[in-house]
Amino acid sequence: EKQRIVVFGSIVQDLVSYTDRFPRPGESVRGNTFKSGSGGKGANQAVAAARLGANVAMIGMVGEDMFGDSNIKDLKENGVDTNCIGRTNKTHTATALITVNKEAENCIVVTLGANMEMSPKIAETNSSIIENSKIVMCQGEIDEKGNRKAFEIARKNGVTTFLNPAPGDANMDKSILDLVDVICTNENEAEFITGIPQNNVEDAEKAARAMVEMGPKYAIITLGSKGVLLASKGVENIDHIEVKKVEAIDTTGAGDCFCGSLAAHLIAGHSMSSSIRSAANIASLSVTRHGTQSSYWKIDEIRQKYPEFLP
Ligand code: RIB
Ligand code: NA
Repeated sequence: EKQRIVVFGSIVQDLVSYTDRFPRPGESVRGNTFKSGSGGKGANQAVAAARLGANVAMIGMVGEDMFGDSNIKDLKENGVDTNCIGRTNKTHTATALITVNKEAENCIVVTLGANMEMSPKIAETNSSIIENSKIVMCQGEIDEKGNRKAFEIARKNGVTTFLNPAPGDANMDKSILDLVDVICTNENEAEFITGIPQNNVEDAEKAARAMVEMGPKYAIITLGSKGVLLASKGVENIDHIEVKKVEAIDTTGAGDCFCGSLAAHLIAGHSMSSSIRSAANIASLSVTRHGTQSSYWKIDEIRQKYPEFLP
């Protein structure tokens, strides 16, 4: 049987309006189009990995409502094992109200609802699936104590731990980094974690170095169109991996596409730097389409149109 990735993370209903520009406080602007789709950083990463052919299971929580139904259905249709997704009647499935402007930038209000029930207890209940996976992936959209417990279980069993501490949170409990093998951030999140202000690539290099000092074996910082940095424990040199330029229409969920794709390549046995190069190019393909999960390319499509993007 193929080795498994397990995502312990968020499931969110994305409600996206595309506008010319963001509204100012007190102002209404007209949306040009609207799209509703399944999202959430955890589920997005699960789908990105599954679309590349990885064996993926998701541990998550949704409400007993229609958004919960449709999010689980989309995960299933993408081949993600949904047996460990719980449902609660205490609160709603999480929602994200997303505005995307003409520059393909986004503003998001995410209301976490059922995701906040992802407690340490849920990690314990699902410990056997975590123990029997190769990689466990967590993000910053659930109870951070739940993430810690999932990683503790993983560590005891030699399972690789992958943290994407997104969205960035200045009050995050950084001691979790002791339990992390691979950390993947953008510049903003790297600044929250290291305290090093991020203004250019040199600052990002400093932050990547600082993050490997905090525990992880690998620290990865995504720089959007400027590529990706990789710092590895015990290696002086920082890798700077470039990406091909694309015409962006919606960058929402590109970071998740990167993380999920990276995990899929690593579990398939590719090296860290060739996995990063490929994941960065695959993530850049996602920004050429609307939405989050719905914008992720499947492996067959990539093989046909951009075979050079695969590792
Ligand atoms: O990273 C993108 C995701 O973050 C969206 O799918 C949305 O759900 C937000 O939480
Ligand atoms: Na997209």
